[in-house]
Amino acid sequence: MSVLIKGGRVVTAADDYVADIFIEGERISLIGESLDVAADKVIDATGKYVLPGAVDPHTHLEMPWRGKTTVDDFYHGHVAAAFGGTTTHIDFCIQAKGQTFGEALATWHGKREGKALIDNGFHIIVTDLSENGGTLEELATLPEEHGVSSYKLFMSYNDSLRVSDEDLFRVMQVAAKTGACVMVHAENGDVIEVLMADAIAAGNTAPVYHALTRPPELEGEATNRAIQLAHVAGAPLYVVHVSCAESLAPIVIAREKGWDVWGETCTQYFFVDTSFLERLENFEAANYVYTPPPRPKHNQEILWNAVRTNALQAISTDHCAYTLEQKALGKDDFRQIPNGAVGMENRLQLIHHFGVREGRITLNRMVELLSTSPAKLFGMYPKKGTIVVGGDADIVVFDPEKHATISAKTHHSAADINIFEGTEVQGSPEIVLLRGNVIVEGGELHAKPGSGQFVHRARFRSELRPAALATA
Ligand code: URP
Ligand code: ZN
Ligand code: ZN
Repeated sequence: MSVLIKGGRVVTAADDYVADIFIEGERISLIGESLDVAADKVIDATGKYVLPGAVDPHTHLEMPWRGKTTVDDFYHGHVAAAFGGTTTHIDFCIQAKGQTFGEALATWHGKREGKALIDNGFHIIVTDLSENGGTLEELATLPEEHGVSSYKLFMSYNDSLRVSDEDLFRVMQVAAKTGACVMVHAENGDVIEVLMADAIAAGNTAPVYHALTRPPELEGEATNRAIQLAHVAGAPLYVVHVSCAESLAPIVIAREKGWDVWGETCTQYFFVDTSFLERLENFEAANYVYTPPPRPKHNQEILWNAVRTNALQAISTDHCAYTLEQKALGKDDFRQIPNGAVGMENRLQLIHHFGVREGRITLNRMVELLSTSPAKLFGMYPKKGTIVVGGDADIVVFDPEKHATISAKTHHSAADINIFEGTEVQGSPEIVLLRGNVIVEGGELHAKPGSGQFVHRARFRSELRPAALATA
């Protein structure tokens, strides 16, 4: 099968030019002006952007947690992602207590088998380094043997996922040796436990207390702690879902010193603020309960500035879909509201409209944040994350003029909630290709379940920072 994409505006993190792209099989084989080649399929991309498929480095598909499971499995999540122009994601594989890492990965591979429509990798979530759980020796084998080159640890959620600073540090020491990247969910879990108990004791059970018991300072404190520990261990650190000025500040300081610290924010932090947690009609506030919580509005422009200036390197979704029925379980106690929201389908549309169209970031920077940087940081570049001869033909033909209104009624997630409900955007994916195959066209899905591939990722790469700083 060959495909010729003609006359589109090819935009990568670095370039912006009109060209034709010729795809043979799964890869891009030729990029040039007015290519005179025969192809099985010709796509006229005149007036359209031709972008690398978006890469989402933070998702939770079919995730069992606290007795509930996220409603988007690898089929529904991938359909949503494909319509949104995301062709690769990295999902979090949770090591259950008492499991080895190999067992956890086998469970997560089972979830994607026969369902995957787009490509994905896994990060491993480390929860148990006791003698019944995983060992540091096994952890060290994951990059080479399983293509899993990132270790994720939680500094909060004391009831379930949180690890001690000692275990966090030991994992950082392993990462320093294996070349894996350490990812942290940074919040001070112990203090959050105290604040939550105080709130409940005082009869404060409403959703807004999810935010009030997780103040920004506790994200800032834990972020700084993780940075210092990673530096002592000599491990690269990636801070997930940075939501506020308090956690951004230590990242900026560390990066100014040349330390191996990276960070992402997520789409929702640009659009949803703390006031959404006061929408009490129909318990709507619960829809915005995710962690870290929506923050005071002034943080939104701070985060836009951070992604524009490379203080943060990626925008992910933290896609973690629950239904209204699941959210209602926390009607009488905010601690029982499952934490999470959708995002995989709308990230590109939202960042394009409010980031690029409204002049906050350039088109090149959008591609970098949504595709190139995640691919580089997580060992998939240049196979993924750019448009280059020899790279996978993961391509989005994006119509910058097409209007869309985001809604749970029309989205492809299995969730009946969309936190961006009613938002109007200009610009949407029109045709999406994964490894040379058209997976979305004309509003229709063309991919077959099971056609998505597992991506065996390389180790962490530090070429995103100047070599001169590498030994600082
Ligand atoms: O609320 C969220 N973010 N749910 C998923 C788990 C996490 O903390 O990323
Ligand atoms: Zn988290
Ligand atoms: Zn998450």
